[in-house]
Amino acid sequence: MINISIETTDYKHATFWAPKTKMTVDQDVKKPLDGLRALITGASKGIGREIAIALARNGAEVAINYRSSEGQAIDVARMVEESNISAWTYRADVSEYENVNEMKLFLTKYFGPIDILVNNAGINIDRMFKKMEPDQWGKVLNVNLTGVFNCTHIFLEQLIESKHGRIINISSIVGQMGNIGQVNYAASKAGIIGMTKALARELARDKVTVNAIAPGFIETDMVAGIPDKLKEKVLQNIPLGRFGQPDEIADAVVYLASPNASYITGHILNINGGMYL
Ligand SMILES: NC(=O)c1ccc[n+]([C@@H]2O[C@H](COP(=O)([O-])OP(=O)(O)OC[C@H]3O[C@@H](n4cnc5c(N)ncnc54)[C@H](OP(=O)(O)O)[C@@H]3O)[C@@H](O)[C@H]2O)c1
Repeated sequence: MINISIETTDYKHATFWAPKTKMTVDQDVKKPLDGLRALITGASKGIGREIAIALARNGAEVAINYRSSEGQAIDVARMVEESNISAWTYRADVSEYENVNEMKLFLTKYFGPIDILVNNAGINIDRMFKKMEPDQWGKVLNVNLTGVFNCTHIFLEQLIESKHGRIINISSIVGQMGNIGQVNYAASKAGIIGMTKALARELARDKVTVNAIAPGFIETDMVAGIPDKLKEKVLQNIPLGRFGQPDEIADAVVYLASPNASYITGHILNINGGMYL
């Protein structure tokens, strides 16, 4: 593997991972996302990690964005390498417009313009609303909703110029049905749904599709912190009787990114085991 690390400022860190050219049996097999480039925000772990790996397995070159988990982002790049696909890892805080703009300038130069944007980065800071501090409201909205605005706004021109422009936003079941202790998170995820529908209408003339996925409870670090008693309660409300897995979200992203989904736009895809219908 070739590995080039570029440290430009304290804030920014990027690494390129290219597989050694080795012929494998499936290298000749055409994949649905061959020749396309995807940026996945928050791809160092959880759902974003599986999305990056799945897009690469289906032929896309990937840029793996993360904010702090550098070691884990590099692990994802190593997994991507196994698919004979090159990858960039790039540290940027999606809630900072200038950070995202620097990421765009950098990726445009070294990776190339993107065709697929997956707005996945997200956080939760749960508190009962009465006790919620303005800062806890602001942080969650800034990452989860303004982050989607920042990335979409900054990469929009490239997506319009692509012949295969795709925006896939990761919302949440909580944005659809609400949840105690998650007013900030629910507002941010409901905001993504409104944004997806409005943007789908605006960008249809540019042949860019805009869709969202609304996952239910998926087994990642984000749900690992839920106390066991509460988890049991949640499970009772999931008709399929189990939590989802990150790869079940990734498979849907691959589909929405693929040519097969070219007539789908403005759709909110529920992947929640039947918890919200
Ligand atoms: N897990 C679920 O049950 C569930 C359900 C519905 C929706 N979702 C949504 O799915 C998405 C992924 O969730 P997850 O469960 O995979 O969470 P996770 O395991 O906590 O991973 C979150 C990812 O987002 C990144 N991130 C956080 N803040 C960031 C920022 N400011 N800039 C760039 N990257 C940032 C993290 O990077 P670093 O670690 O490097 O900071 C990490 O890669 C989120 O939008 C979440 O709201 C999750």
